Amino acid sequence: STAQIGVTGLAVMGRNLARNLARHGYAVAVHNRSHARTRSLVDEHGGEGVFVPAESMADFVAALERPRKVVVMVKAGGPTDAVIDELIPLLEPGDIVVDAGNAHFPDTRRREAELKKHGLHFVGTGVSGGEEGALNGPSIMPGGSKESYAALGPILEDIAAQVDGEPCCAHVGPDGAGHFVKMVHNGIEYADMQLIAEAYDLLRQGLGASAAEIAGIFAEWNTGDLESYLIEITAQVLAHTDAETGAAFVDVVLDQAEQKGTGRWTVQNGLDLGVPITGIAEATFARALSGSVPQRAAAAGVLPASTEEWAVPAGDRDAFVEDVRLALYASKVVAYSQGFDQIAAASEEFGWDIDRGEVARIWRGGCIIRARFLNRITEAYQRDADLPLLLADEYFTGAVGNGVAAWRRVVSEAALHGVPVPAFASSLAYYDGVRAERLPAALIQAQRDFFGAHTYRRVDRDGVFHTEWSGDRAEEKR
Ligand code: 6PG
Repeated sequence: STAQIGVTGLAVMGRNLARNLARHGYAVAVHNRSHARTRSLVDEHGGEGVFVPAESMADFVAALERPRKVVVMVKAGGPTDAVIDELIPLLEPGDIVVDAGNAHFPDTRRREAELKKHGLHFVGTGVSGGEEGALNGPSIMPGGSKESYAALGPILEDIAAQVDGEPCCAHVGPDGAGHFVKMVHNGIEYADMQLIAEAYDLLRQGLGASAAEIAGIFAEWNTGDLESYLIEITAQVLAHTDAETGAAFVDVVLDQAEQKGTGRWTVQNGLDLGVPITGIAEATFARALSGSVPQRAAAAGVLPASTEEWAVPAGDRDAFVEDVRLALYASKVVAYSQGFDQIAAASEEFGWDIDRGEVARIWRGGCIIRARFLNRITEAYQRDADLPLLLADEYFTGAVGNGVAAWRRVVSEAALHGVPVPAFASSLAYYDGVRAERLPAALIQAQRDFFGAHTYRRVDRDGVFHTEWSGDRAEEKR
């Protein structure tokens, strides 16, 4: 056995991870269902390090030092199960199987439990950063046992993105914690992207600005608090011109957003755990709305708008841009705050003991949502590891509080002029909801008691009560 780690599944992500490992001096066994892929990897990149190509799964496993570390990088779902089933009889107790694909965390929990029966470690690992990240340093979110992390962690930390001399990789928690955190990362990614898209739409419609002009605004924003990978690539996308038509590239792309499902999982889990991740949900539904083709066709030009043409007056343009920037930042903080609430709830539910400050720390580099402000999140959880609400941390109350008036102006302008800003608006509604001293939920409880005898609690006394709505309306203690 000559390889320290192996990668099976050599589509672009697996291939790039294998190259990243080899470039860091690890001898990497490589395997793919069709051997041609393995050969082309070695032919094209053999010079980057030590690759040990294997034609069969048995040869692949035999090439690995013990405890064996096998990274599986195939399509989530059935294909992952098929590879695991093939591996189980070939492995020995103590070996580690790493699933680095975008698996749904309940699948990871099931697989971990199954492999444990065979004495094997299963490490569901989130990997973010796309092809580029896999090759040059992704953000890595491993779950699984502490013991497996002791053997595997140093290797993953080596190949991860590095920020301020720290690897963007840490043991997130046992079991499915790694894939769970990656799922929420993707949910936040959806929210971030939707918020940016809404900001773009507001600038385009309010200012009548061209895509290229807005590219300049985003590039400028990227030098401040909003500095992040997604803002940076937005500026690049908006500056791009379609070669064929000469039009702004963004204008030739069909406006129907697709998804592979991680955002949907995040929202479904938010519902299961009862965590209001409204920013992520709005972003996911906004994609669904964009793809609702027959509905959009039935509505366009038919549903009355009752709005007037919108043009921000020349003298107010800079102030408007600044308002949109502040609203974007505030909404973004809400989306992250909600995502971190979801992580806390799952950590509690499954006993994962996830350190949220660490999660923010390993998202600072390599991943799609990498951003300057993640440092602020880490600092907030360092101040208080049990912080009940990120938004209520002293830094964020200041940063968001500073933009609330602008946020309100932007959402009301959007409503007045018929520009859909579901993520901006729902984030503001969440902000007002969570800070309200009293909510109309009291009325909902009363209604539930009225029609279904579902009972209510009182503000002034302990206990559970029901009112005899159909009788004398006397209150009884239940
Ligand atoms: C990442 C990305 C990656 C992928 C998403 C895209 O972290 O590197 O999140 O996982 O790009 O799955 O998701 P949709 O296709 O659902 O938009």
